[in-house]
Amino acid sequence: MSFRNLVVGAVIASLFTSRVRAVDNGLAITPQMGWDNWNALGCDVSEDLLLQTAELIVDYGLQDLGYHYVVLDDCWSSGRNASNNNSLIADASKFPNGMAAVADRLHALGLGFGMYSDAGKYTCGGYAGSLGYETVDADTFASWGVDYLKYDNCYNMGQAGNQQISEARYATMANALNATGRPILYSLCNWGEDYPWNWGSTIANSWRISGDVYDNWDTYDSRCPCTGADAWNCGLPGFHCSITNIMNKASFIVSKAQPGAWNDLDMLEVGNGAMTDAEYVAHFSMWAIAKSPLIMGNDIRTIAPADLAILSNAAVIAVNQDPSGSSAARRWIYGINGSDPFTGPSIQLWSGSLKSTTGGAQSDMVVLLINGADESMPMNASLADIFVDNGPGGTAPQVKMSWEVRDLWANRMSDEEAAAIIAASSGTGNVTTGYNATEVGAGRYNATAMSYAEGLAANSSLLLGNVTTTLAPSGTVTATVEPHGVAMFRLRALPTGMMRKRDEL
Ligand SMILES: *[C@@H]1O[C@H](CO)[C@@H](O)[C@H](O)[C@H]1NC(C)=O
Ligand SMILES: *[C@@H]1O[C@H](CO)[C@@H](O)[C@H](O)[C@H]1NC(C)=O
Ligand SMILES: *[C@@H]1O[C@H](CO)[C@@H](O)[C@H](O)[C@H]1NC(C)=O
Ligand SMILES: *[C@@H]1O[C@H](CO)[C@@H](O)[C@H](O)[C@H]1NC(C)=O
Ligand SMILES: *[C@@H]1O[C@H](CO)[C@@H](O)[C@H](O)[C@H]1NC(C)=O
Ligand SMILES: *[C@@H]1O[C@H](CO)[C@@H](O)[C@H](O)[C@H]1NC(C)=O
Ligand SMILES: *[C@@H]1O[C@H](CO)[C@@H](O)[C@H](O)[C@H]1NC(C)=O
Ligand SMILES: *[C@@H]1O[C@H](CO)[C@@H](O)[C@H](O)[C@H]1NC(C)=O
Ligand SMILES: *[C@@H]1O[C@H](CO)[C@@H](O)[C@H](O)[C@H]1NC(C)=O
Ligand SMILES: *[C@@H]1O[C@H](CO)[C@@H](O)[C@H](O)[C@H]1NC(C)=O
Repeated sequence: MSFRNLVVGAVIASLFTSRVRAVDNGLAITPQMGWDNWNALGCDVSEDLLLQTAELIVDYGLQDLGYHYVVLDDCWSSGRNASNNNSLIADASKFPNGMAAVADRLHALGLGFGMYSDAGKYTCGGYAGSLGYETVDADTFASWGVDYLKYDNCYNMGQAGNQQISEARYATMANALNATGRPILYSLCNWGEDYPWNWGSTIANSWRISGDVYDNWDTYDSRCPCTGADAWNCGLPGFHCSITNIMNKASFIVSKAQPGAWNDLDMLEVGNGAMTDAEYVAHFSMWAIAKSPLIMGNDIRTIAPADLAILSNAAVIAVNQDPSGSSAARRWIYGINGSDPFTGPSIQLWSGSLKSTTGGAQSDMVVLLINGADESMPMNASLADIFVDNGPGGTAPQVKMSWEVRDLWANRMSDEEAAAIIAASSGTGNVTTGYNATEVGAGRYNATAMSYAEGLAANSSLLLGNVTTTLAPSGTVTATVEPHGVAMFRLRALPTGMMRKRDEL
């Protein structure tokens, strides 16, 4: 492919993207980011929880990294009001000032308010569901100032079993939300039942692809049964799905992700305590490259410095929020020592194209090496495998180019700095080190001041990662990867490679 064809290819790609009909509410042009209480706190919800968390999201700089929606999950209502058109009532003991007051406070902080309901007779926790009440509930949410709806699948009265039936049930709420006139991000949560990636993009901004995640790297659990090379075809989504189980399911449907419409790998477990630091780094990296929504699922009020550092890695978030909006894909998976890669531990290579930050036509590339083994592994990713989409067997023109390799985790905030942010924001700024929230924030990426798209275009060193090496044509990226860990790189085309390529034309 010539340089000119690369440009033409890019133009065709953008025409194609704009022709695809994602839900037309203008939201989630990049994957949504925020927080949801469910993974850490379940039904233990209240106004205090949401507002305390919201203030910490602002104070810890998480809002300025893009975490925008504060999402209230199940167990918030006390039923319907027969004297008021059967509208839902907020539980007055948990939300004494009502939901509109919560929305007002969140909006005053510059955050969005996420609400939960269920496309069934009851919610999963047994509260009133929205099936048959879509219009009145959408109107109620809009009147409260809701910006986001997570819409679950429990007690669906058997209205599932094929794509048309599931689509119709979820489209009823999509239409009701649209009719309110308020842009409300629609987060469809039917656990991957009836292939929502085939129909979700026309009605919703994201759709869950699996049963519920839990805080576990790779344990096989019979409650989340689909594990193999056909895991996408899962009649029983279940729950208790491990990180690697969900990533495997995502591997088959990466092409369905597009601006405004994303595969949702479920809320993050970073910080919930049952995985190692390497596993949390791997989990966050995987969700980022698959263009999953990044919804924190830990208790921010008790966040540990190491977890704040993971969730604050702007170089990784910039991959998730990349303007080109396409998911990385798995290039290979091998079982360790010849074992079945789907039942035993595996090593994997994923890669995907990102918007160019070199000013040329050649896209940047994200590379993720995943080590599922219980010991450190020297791992290798050849340019031929990284660029296999551009030509099989090493024929891709990119294989003949030279590349800069940048480590996206090298500049992870230190635990000391993260601890200082937490201490300063809690009003106990450490006078010995002199940190306070504003000072600490000054050295960090601020996506409120400069969007990720702008920061990438300006070559922000906080987004591009740290140069580790350069690759000559036909080169191989190598890394020693921790057990249950990843190595994550951004590849940028080197001008000499481009020039040589152009000279050959
Ligand atoms: C409702 O749908 C129409 C047609 O797709 C779209 O133009 C409009 O922006 C939507 N409005 C809202 C509030 O989502
Ligand atoms: C139910 O609706 C009526 C009529 O609007 C209102 O007076 C009453 O306070 C509502 N009840 C609750 C529990 O919100
Ligand atoms: C009851 O709710 C429906 C759906 O939101 C709405 O169309 C209707 O106008 C409401 N009726 C009253 C009396 O508020
Ligand atoms: C592979 O098997 C060899 C021989 O049993 C063992 O020493 C090695 O630790 C295994 N490698 C991994 C990554 O498990
Ligand atoms: C970003 O870096 C690339 C490669 O070094 C360079 O070609 C480009 O001009 C830079 N862009 C800006 C805006 O500095
Ligand atoms: C990566 O390459 C090194 C050096 O050639 C080799 O020792 C190692 O086994 C390779 N790793 C894998 C996982 O193939
Ligand atoms: C990585 O890059 C950042 C930003 O340029 C720099 O501050 C930091 O010292 C670098 N870290 C390493 C380990 O090279
Ligand atoms: C302040 O920070 C220093 C350096 O990290 C640490 O040794 C000291 O214990 C901290 N003091 C307080 C009061 O947190
Ligand atoms: C925090 O640091 C900034 C910049 O040095 C300074 O202007 C501000 O007064 C400090 N705030 C507090 C509460 O110490
Ligand atoms: C980030 O930028 C915004 C807008 O410029 C500013 O209001 C905010 O204080 C900045 N945040 C930090 C942590 O510096």
